[in-house]
Amino acid sequence: MVNNKAFITLVSLGATFVVNVLAQQSSQGNDIWDKLETSTELRWRDCYTQLQCARLQVPLNYSDPEGDTASIAVIRLPSPLAGTDDYKGPILFNPGGPGGSGVQMIADGGAAFSELLGANFDIVSFDPRGVGLSIPRVSFFDTEAQRQFFGSFDVVNATSDGLARIWARAQITGALAARHNQHNILEHFNTENTARDMLKIVEAHGQRNIQYWGFSYGTVLGATFASLFPGRIDRLVLDGVVDAEDYYATLWSKNLLDADKTLQIFFDDCFEAGPDVCPFYEPSPQAISRKLDDLTRAIFLRPVPVVTDISYGLVDYARLRMSIFQSLWSPYAFFPQLAQGLADLINGNGTTLYQIMEQPLFDCSCGTPTPPTIIADGGIAISCTDGEEVRDTVDELESYLQGLLRDSQWGEVWTGARIGCSAWPKQEKRHFRGPFLGNTSHPILWIGNTADPATPIAGARKMAQGFPGSVVLAQDSPGHCSIAAPSVCTAKFIRAYFMNGTLPNEGVVCPVDVPIFLEQSLGTRDHTMRRAVGVNLGGKDEDIVQAIAHLRESFRVPLPF
Ligand SMILES: *[C@@H]1O[C@H](CO)[C@@H](O)[C@H](O)[C@H]1NC(C)=O
Ligand SMILES: *[C@@H]1O[C@H](CO)[C@@H](O)[C@H](O)[C@H]1NC(C)=O
Ligand SMILES: *[C@@H]1O[C@H](CO)[C@@H](O)[C@H](O)[C@H]1NC(C)=O
Ligand SMILES: *[C@@H]1O[C@H](CO)[C@@H](O)[C@H](O)[C@H]1NC(C)=O
Ligand SMILES: *[C@@H]1O[C@H](CO)[C@@H](O)[C@H](O)[C@H]1NC(C)=O
Repeated sequence: MVNNKAFITLVSLGATFVVNVLAQQSSQGNDIWDKLETSTELRWRDCYTQLQCARLQVPLNYSDPEGDTASIAVIRLPSPLAGTDDYKGPILFNPGGPGGSGVQMIADGGAAFSELLGANFDIVSFDPRGVGLSIPRVSFFDTEAQRQFFGSFDVVNATSDGLARIWARAQITGALAARHNQHNILEHFNTENTARDMLKIVEAHGQRNIQYWGFSYGTVLGATFASLFPGRIDRLVLDGVVDAEDYYATLWSKNLLDADKTLQIFFDDCFEAGPDVCPFYEPSPQAISRKLDDLTRAIFLRPVPVVTDISYGLVDYARLRMSIFQSLWSPYAFFPQLAQGLADLINGNGTTLYQIMEQPLFDCSCGTPTPPTIIADGGIAISCTDGEEVRDTVDELESYLQGLLRDSQWGEVWTGARIGCSAWPKQEKRHFRGPFLGNTSHPILWIGNTADPATPIAGARKMAQGFPGSVVLAQDSPGHCSIAAPSVCTAKFIRAYFMNGTLPNEGVVCPVDVPIFLEQSLGTRDHTMRRAVGVNLGGKDEDIVQAIAHLRESFRVPLPF
C-alpha cells in the first residue's frame, strides 16, 4: 500500500524534521491535549511556547448532525493586534499530505508565518480529522511496535519483484484497515468533511469567510472548499497545486511532469557552483549525472553500512533513491547535503547521505510516541477514501507504472500512491469529488514553481480555469511549494494578497533571491556577504528573508499522500 515503508517514512519525513525541533516543547505542548475539553466553541488554553490550543467538536457525519462527533485539535498563534483596527482575523493553514499535522506546523513555524504575513493575523491550523491529535485518529495497527515492524522500504527497482511486493503489502494494509473500520468509520475521513470542519473553525472564530494558505494536498482541500462554499472566501492561497481531478480519480498521474527537471537543476547548479562549493562536481552537468548513475549501480550491488549516534542502517539502492527524491522537495535545504553525501558515498562513507532521511530508532519502551502524530495511516485513509476505488491487478499496475515512467524516472517511487489503495475497503463514496468550479467571493491566488517535483505548475494553470478572476503566480525555482526557495518577490505578493486582497498580474514570474549552493556557502544569515555578491536586498526585506529561511529549516511539506 502507500504503506510500503517508503511512504510511511516520507510522509513522516514531512513532519519528522519537526519532531527533533519540537523535542523539548513536545512533552509540555502534548500534555495539554489530553486536558482540553472538546467544545463547539474554541476555548483557547496556553500551550507550547506562546501558542494557544483548543478542541473543536464537529459532526463525524455532516448528514447526521445529531450523531457521533469528532474532536478537532486546533492551534493558533494569536495576533497581538486583536481588538484593534489593524486586526485582520485568522488565516488557516494546511501543510499537505494528506495526513500532515497542522498542529506541528504551527508549533514550529507559526512565528515565521506571522513574521512573513504580518502580526495583523491569527496564525491558525489544525490536525485534520483522522490525523494526529484529532479524535478519532486513524490507525491500522494495534500498537506502535506493530506499525514499526511492518515497515520496510519498497522502491520498484530495488528488487526483481518490486511492484508485486508493493501490491502484496497493500493487500495486508487493506485488510488491516478493514479490521479497523467499525461502522464504516473510515468513510468519514474525506476531504469534503475536512472542508466543512474548516468552515466550523472559521465560524467558531467569529468570522463568516475563510482566509487560507494550503500547500500541496492542502490545495485539494482549498479547491474543494472553494467549490463547496464559493461565497465564503476572503483569501485563498493555493501553493504547490495538485490536479484535483487526478487526485480524486486515485490516479496520481499528473504529479511527476517536472520531477526530472528538478534533478537536472541539481546537476546544473552543482556544475555552476564549482568544485570548491559542490563536492560532487564534475566538468559538466552531464558528467555529474553519469557519475550519479554509476554510483547508483554500485550501491545496488554493494550497500554501505552506517552507524550514527542515534541510529544505524544501510545505504542501499532504495535508501539512496528515496533520499535523492526527498532532496528534490527542498533543494535549498538538501542539495548541499546531497552533494556532500554522494561525494562521501563514492569514498565508501554513507553517513551524510543516510542522515538525509535519518529518524531516531524506534523504542518500544517509550509508550505513546511524542508527539503521537507521525504516522502515515491517517493520510492513507484520506487519500484512499477520497479517491475512486482501485482494484488493479499486478499486470495492470505494470502498465500504470510504465505510464508514470514516461514522465519521470521517479515513477518507481511514486507508483505506491495508487497501489496503496488497491485493497482499500469498499465504500459508498458519496462525498464531493468535483467539478472544481466557482465564482468565488474573492479571487484565488494559485502558486506554482517552475520545477516542482510533485506539483508541476501545469496543475495550477489547469485548476485556475474553474475559478474566474483567479491568478497563477509562478516562482522560478526548484522544490515543492513556494516556501522551498527564497523569493522576497513571492513573499511580498503573498503578503499583499492577505493584507490588501491585491493579486499579481497574470503571467508574473518571481525569481529566487540567491542560487542554491551560493546561499549555502554564504550562510543564510550573512547579510553583508549577500550584498557583496550583488544580491541586493533592501534592509527592510531582511525580516522576510529570515522568515522564509526559518520556515524552510523548520517545516517541510509532506509528500502528497
Ligand atoms: C451519514 O448519515 C446519513 C444520514 O443519516 C447516512 O445515510 C449515511 O450513510 C451516513 N454516512 C456514513 C458514512 O455513515
Ligand atoms: C526501473 O526498471 C524499469 C524497467 O524494469 C526501467 O525502465 C527503469 O529505467 C528503471 N529505473 C531506474 C531508475 O533504474
Ligand atoms: C564519515 O563521514 C562522517 C561525516 O562527515 C564523519 O563524521 C565520519 O567520521 C566518517 N566515517 C569514517 C569511517 O570515515
Ligand atoms: C460564474 O459566473 C458566470 C457569469 O455570471 C456564469 O456564466 C458561470 O456559470 C458561473 N459559474 C459557476 C460555477 O457558478
Ligand atoms: C496595502 O495597501 C496600502 C495602501 O495602498 C499600502 O500602503 C500597503 O503597502 C499595502 N500593503 C502591502 C503588504 O502591500
